[in-house]
Amino acid sequence: MVSKKVAACMQGYRLPAVLTPLFIVGEVALDIGIPLVMASIINVGLAQQDVPYICKLGALMLLMALCSLALGVLAGRSSSVAGVGFAKNLRAALFDKIQQFSFRSLDKFSTASLITRLTTDVTNTQMALMMGLRMLFRAPLMLLCGAAMAFYINSNLAMILLVALPLLSVVIFGIFIMAFPRFRQLMSKYDSLNTRTQENLTAIRVVKAFVRGDYETDLFNNSVDEMQQAAFRAESLMATTMPIMQLGMYTCMLAVAWFGGNTIIAGEMLVGDLMSFISYISQILMSVMMIAMISVNLILSKASINRIGEVLDEEIDLTEPQNTKETGKADIVFEDVCFAYDNSQNGQEKRADVLSNVNLSIKVGETVGIIGGTGSGKSTLVQLIPRLYDVTSGRVLVGGVDVREQNLADLRNKVAMVLQKNLLFSGTVADNLRWGNANATQAEIEAACRAAAAHDFISTLPQGYDTVLGQGGVNLSGGQRQRLCIARALLKRPDIIILDDSTSAVDTATDKAIRKTLREDLHGITTIIVAQRITSVMDADKIAVLDDGRLIDCGKHDELLESCAIYREIYYSQQKGGEADA
Ligand SMILES: Nc1ncnc2c1ncn2[C@@H]1O[C@H](COP(=O)(O)OP(=O)(O)OP(=O)(O)O)[C@@H](O)[C@H]1O
Ligand SMILES: [Mg+2]
Repeated sequence: MVSKKVAACMQGYRLPAVLTPLFIVGEVALDIGIPLVMASIINVGLAQQDVPYICKLGALMLLMALCSLALGVLAGRSSSVAGVGFAKNLRAALFDKIQQFSFRSLDKFSTASLITRLTTDVTNTQMALMMGLRMLFRAPLMLLCGAAMAFYINSNLAMILLVALPLLSVVIFGIFIMAFPRFRQLMSKYDSLNTRTQENLTAIRVVKAFVRGDYETDLFNNSVDEMQQAAFRAESLMATTMPIMQLGMYTCMLAVAWFGGNTIIAGEMLVGDLMSFISYISQILMSVMMIAMISVNLILSKASINRIGEVLDEEIDLTEPQNTKETGKADIVFEDVCFAYDNSQNGQEKRADVLSNVNLSIKVGETVGIIGGTGSGKSTLVQLIPRLYDVTSGRVLVGGVDVREQNLADLRNKVAMVLQKNLLFSGTVADNLRWGNANATQAEIEAACRAAAAHDFISTLPQGYDTVLGQGGVNLSGGQRQRLCIARALLKRPDIIILDDSTSAVDTATDKAIRKTLREDLHGITTIIVAQRITSVMDADKIAVLDDGRLIDCGKHDELLESCAIYREIYYSQQKGGEADA
């Protein structure tokens, strides 16, 4: 079944979709009528040398042909309006849906597959709809009416159809059925080519850095070769249909001419009738071909429709409650929080807990450090605060209210998060900063940049704040990018700011300067600093130590040095490392 949400994208284009078959019915009626008029011209006009009669019917025939043309054009137009409009709605719906995706859903669909769904799959669906609207009615109608007319003209002669039609149908449908898996294979090759290309282009810098260019090119060439072979296998089979079709058609006509000629000689049929009979035969045989072709096309596009449906039907698991609760101040409480990533989509059924029974409370205005080995769940923990993921069990409270009972936009506006994997967008430096606050004045922007120790380097850029950044901010250093991201978060003037390893690429002195301004200029803001370096969190009001998803200790630097073995170990290993470096 086609997903309801896909079908709903016909909204606004139902009229042209309904009009198309109506126009087609008119067109078919005229196409069926024209050979009849022609028969009369030959049988009556020519036989009796009645010139006015010939002129009259000739004019009628011309008029019918023009009307049929006009209806054909109208049908083409309305099916295009419906198809293109449907595609527009579909794209908008897909994009809108993806914007609503939670991080969990984003983990599930890869970027490359989402792009394919938004582009190729939508185009396939659009084509199928346009063709379906025109041909799905036209071909069967033509077949039925043509056959009826053939029997009406001469039922004996029409017996030829009873032999030819099943024979030809079996052959043509046989070929299409054989071609079907080959087309399906072609489509899947096309998919993997798409995925490969998109993945490669997204990560082209990594490919170059690892000198994997040749390797990737080989893979790509293999992909292209496979596609070529698949396409050849499918198309070479399809190429046989036309000659077979023509063979069938000419054989039929030969038979019709032979038997029809004899009937005419015997005086049982008129020449004009034979002519129109031949027209019907060719229309009927063409319809058989059309029907076979649309069937295959529709089945093939079903894969695309399903893939679009998957996105549209993806359940939005981060739902907002009907009555959102007003929150108090920006304190944060983790209550017995457990969390596991949903890996079932990647074929791994295992759901290991990434966080187990975390209890932590953070007061308004406090600065809290979170430290722990790589993979210990630090990023996971802080991502629960702006509700990027939902807890598996337990609760996360912000301002005294469970985050699941808050208005999502309000919550996320209150919490500024500098993600570990951060990104800038193409545009100027100022444009990027205004992501935090669209109405920020230049003075506010500069203040935020000073706080994030970014003002100095921005001033040295060729056009200062108007310098244009490449996609992802490629023309900045890693540390510069991090500082811009912090400034962007500060511009939101949030109640809570979370820095997830956001100064990892910044030298220790700058790191210190940033922390100093955060503490002095931004007191009152609850600050959470996730870090690898103990020096980054040493002066925090408290430090939470995570180990393998468990909160093993929490306290001030000195207390932890006393009480927490793991903390001590990290601290001394970093101290020694620092000395060794020095
Ligand atoms: N999107 C995801 N889907 C599935 N598993 C994930 C995902 N993100 C992280 N994990 C897993 O969860 C665990 C904790 O990851 P997390 O990113 O929270 O660690 P971290 O403490 O921030 O590490 P680092 O210091 O390297 O940033 C890891 O074992 C990781 O493999
Ligand atoms: Mg992390």
